[in-house]
Parts: sequence; structure tokens; C-alpha cells
Amino acid sequence: MENYNDMQTMIDAQDLTLSPPEEEVQRQYYFIKKCREIVEKKSKEAGRALTACSVCMGCQMNARDSEKLSGILEMAGFTCVDTEDADFVIYNTCTVREHASQRVYGRLGSLSGKKRANPHKKIALCGCMMQEEAVIAKIKKSYRFVDLIFGTHNIFKFAELLCTMFESGGMVVDIWKDTDQIVEDLPVERKYPFKSGVNIMFGCNNFCSYCIVPYVRGRERSRKPEDIVREIRRLVDDGVVEIMLLGQNVNSYGKTLNTLVTFAGLLEEIEKIEGLKRIRFMTSHPKDLSDELIHAMKHSTKLCRHLHLPLQSGSTRILEKMNRHYTKEQYLALAEKIKREIPDISLTTDIIVGFPGETPADVDETIDVIRQVQFDNAFTFLYSKRTGTPAAAMEGQVPEAIAKEGFGRLLKAVQDTAKKRAGRLVGETWEALVEEQNEQDASYMTGRLSNNMIVHFQGNASLIGSIVRVHLTECRGFYYIGRMCEGRE
Ligand code: SAH
Ligand code: SF4
Ligand code: F3S
Repeated sequence: MENYNDMQTMIDAQDLTLSPPEEEVQRQYYFIKKCREIVEKKSKEAGRALTACSVCMGCQMNARDSEKLSGILEMAGFTCVDTEDADFVIYNTCTVREHASQRVYGRLGSLSGKKRANPHKKIALCGCMMQEEAVIAKIKKSYRFVDLIFGTHNIFKFAELLCTMFESGGMVVDIWKDTDQIVEDLPVERKYPFKSGVNIMFGCNNFCSYCIVPYVRGRERSRKPEDIVREIRRLVDDGVVEIMLLGQNVNSYGKTLNTLVTFAGLLEEIEKIEGLKRIRFMTSHPKDLSDELIHAMKHSTKLCRHLHLPLQSGSTRILEKMNRHYTKEQYLALAEKIKREIPDISLTTDIIVGFPGETPADVDETIDVIRQVQFDNAFTFLYSKRTGTPAAAMEGQVPEAIAKEGFGRLLKAVQDTAKKRAGRLVGETWEALVEEQNEQDASYMTGRLSNNMIVHFQGNASLIGSIVRVHLTECRGFYYIGRMCEGRE
């Protein structure tokens, strides 16, 4: 299939008098059409168009999944809105840290009141948190008003599940333990017209000892290069200039395929796509980052000058317990090599504080790495105990007060180095992808540099989605103020 009109045609062509097709994509087209009939009927009953709201609570991969949910909701006849007053609300949940899960219960509580006030209201839950048995038990017991629950492995069945929900009186629950299926060519409703995430792989096989993702996202599997390239071509035809390739560990891309293709090889293919201007990717595991990739980044005109390289800890002892497969010295050597080969690169990272057994001396080691590498930004997280992960059963769980003390010290180190790094581009001219109008002052536009930093400059909304050259005149903390150079690229 080449474009979205073809998809629409194939959905329209489904014959609802027959039983649903076996082949998965055709099957979902069938249910999209069926759902559209149901939604049309309900809209007539209500005397207004039924609305739907899809809420993303997690990472970029979760956000991409939410776009797929919105795509199906639109195709199924709902009008997508941003408010949870909508007739259909779906939370795409995250469970990477305890806090993320707690938020869901809080928000569900307030939804139940809205449901009592609207007879058409339906509530659905999906995403990573739903892959946990204890969560499903709790919702079944205490949140009976939820209409539909599914997990991460059967999201491609969303249209079919929607139909089941409308047809059934009670709560519909469909959770799969795992899958090796990858279903292509389902509708997607993008948040931004000019940029898009693109999944290149699903799941994770790394089993870092603190992390729940491999349990809730299943085993690693890569999409075929030709499917990825075809999707990107279609996106470019539809106005996209920047893509973010998504995977929990993009550096191990291709390992599950029969063909011999590496991440760097895939990038080379993507680079050739005409009309595509920028390529980003997320996330890189340091243990698998190849020289081939550094070489590709160095010589590419499209690969952005930004690398997110999660450190997690600077202490070799803790890294080993985290099952990260690198030492402090190996990380430092890798970061140095990258900076030497690609001097204008921005490095960012993730850090966890308070992992079991971590002492203030381990935190000092992490601070040492921050000072040596000079990250442009780092996301610091307080360790959160996730049931079922090896770290949850480890001795030496760190009391919150001590973890918070370490967190404070780390944050200061991160801010100090980031501040030092921030001003370094003042006086230079960079290309920026214009993303939006500034909220406070409409005469200013917000653009993103190749290294992921933000610049505000005077311009107008017609520039959104184009790449312009901006002279960076001033740095204010973590963003720049600039002046647009004449003439678009
Ligand atoms: N696959 C990515 C990370 C996905 S989760 C990678 O390996 O880089 C995003 C970040 O959440 C991780 O990098 C880690 O810093 C943090 N994280 C994961 N599990 C956590 C936990 N149990 N407690 C605190 N932070 C956690
Ligand atoms: Fe979690 Fe590690 Fe996999 Fe990242 S690589 S998702 S931190 S297990
Ligand atoms: Fe959260 Fe799942 Fe992403 S647990 S971080 S939404 S993969």
C-alpha cells in the first residue's frame, strides 16, 4: 500500500455481511468499518458526533502507540479531542516507575464521576501497566466501571476490541503474554505534521536488573528494513521532514532478522530517502554502540548531532549489579571517542540514584562521569522498586532520605555542567526545524536544532515545519534566542 487513501479504499471495500477475514490487516480493516457503523449509530442517538481522547502517559514508544490508537479512532468515526470529557477515553499507561502507575489510579477516580454524567462514556486502559497481573486484578476489583483493557502485544487488534466492547455489556479484558507478530499498515494519526516517530523494533532483551520494560514489552523483535523504509517514504510524501527511529536499544537492531542488517546499515538506507531532512534515534545502549554507527553519524548530512546514551550509574560495581555490561572506564572511553569523532555532538543521558547497595561513594563516581563527559542534559531518576525485577529482591535497598540526598548532589552536578555547555553555540548559525509558535509571545517561533536544543526567534506561523537558518545570539539557561537568517533552505 502506498498511501492513506489506499487504506481508506481497502477499509471501505470490506464486506460486513461476511465473517471477519483471517489475515490480520484485512481483519482489522473489517472491524474499523464495523466500528464506524456503530459509532455513526450512537452519534445519531446522541444527536452529536461522538468524541474520543487518547492519553499518552509514557515514553516515545508509548506516544507512537497513542498515535496509532488515535488513527484507528479517527478511522472508526470518532472526532478526536484533547479533553477527558470525551465519550471515549483511553489511557496508554506506563509502569517504568511506581509514580507513573500511581497517577493512573488517581486519574481513573476522577473519570468515574464523568462517566456517571454521560451515558455514552466508555473508558479504556492499555499499555505497559496492563501487562502486570496485579494491576489487572486491582482494576477488576476496584475499578469496575472500566470498559476495555488490553496490553502492549495486541494493540494492533484495537479496532476489533472496540467492537467487542460496544457489543458486550461488561468489562472486556484481553491481555497477551507475548507475541512475535508485527502488523504493518494500520492507520496512524500523527501529533505533528512535520515530524514523526517510526518504530524500528519492539521489546527488549537486555534485562537491566531494575527495569520492568522487558517484562511488559516482551522479547526483542525488529521490523524488516523494507517495511521501515516504505513507512518513512510514505511519511515524507505526507509532509514529514524529521523522523525519530524508536527502539529500546536501537544498536541491536536487526539481530532477530534473517537478513544481515545492522542499525548503521539501516541508517544508510534511510539516509537515501529523498525529501527526508533529519534522522534521530532513541535509545542507544552503550554496550552495543558500534564504530560503524559513529562513522555513519560523522559522515551523514541527515543524522542529527544528538546522542542519548544512558549511563544509569558511574560506578562499575553498581553497573554490574544493574546488568548493564559495561564499566565506568568503558563508558568514559566510548563517550570520548564519540566526542572526538563528532565534536559538535550533544550527549545526553539517564541516571538512576538509589539502586540497591548504592553508597555515597558510588554517587561520587557517577558525578565524576558527569564532570568528565560534560553531558548537555541528563535525566535523573530516583530508583523505583518494580515487582518481579531482580533488583527488587536485592539486599541493601536504599532508604529514601539517602537516595534523595544523592539525587540532590547529582542534579547539581548535572545542572552545573549543562549550564557550562549551554552557551557554547552563541555566535554560531545553525539550522532549526520550526516546530511551533511561542506560547507567551506569538511573534516568536520555537525551533529545534540538530543537537536537540531549542531556539526562539522572531518569525511567523507559516514557517512551521520548515528548516531555517538561525543565528544564535544569546543563551538563556537551556535555550537560545536567535535571529533568523534571510531565505529558507
Ligand atoms: N531502553 C532505554 C530506557 C527505557 S526506560 C535504555 O536502556 O536506555 C527510561 C529510563 O528510565 C531508563 O534509562 C532508566 O534511567 C529509567 N528507569 C528504568 N527503570 C527504572 C526504575 N526501576 N527506577 C528508576 N528509573 C528507572
Ligand atoms: Fe530497560 Fe535496560 Fe531494556 Fe532499557 S535496555 S528498556 S533500561 S532493560
Ligand atoms: Fe513506560 Fe512502557 Fe515506555 S513502561 S517508559 S511506556 S516502554
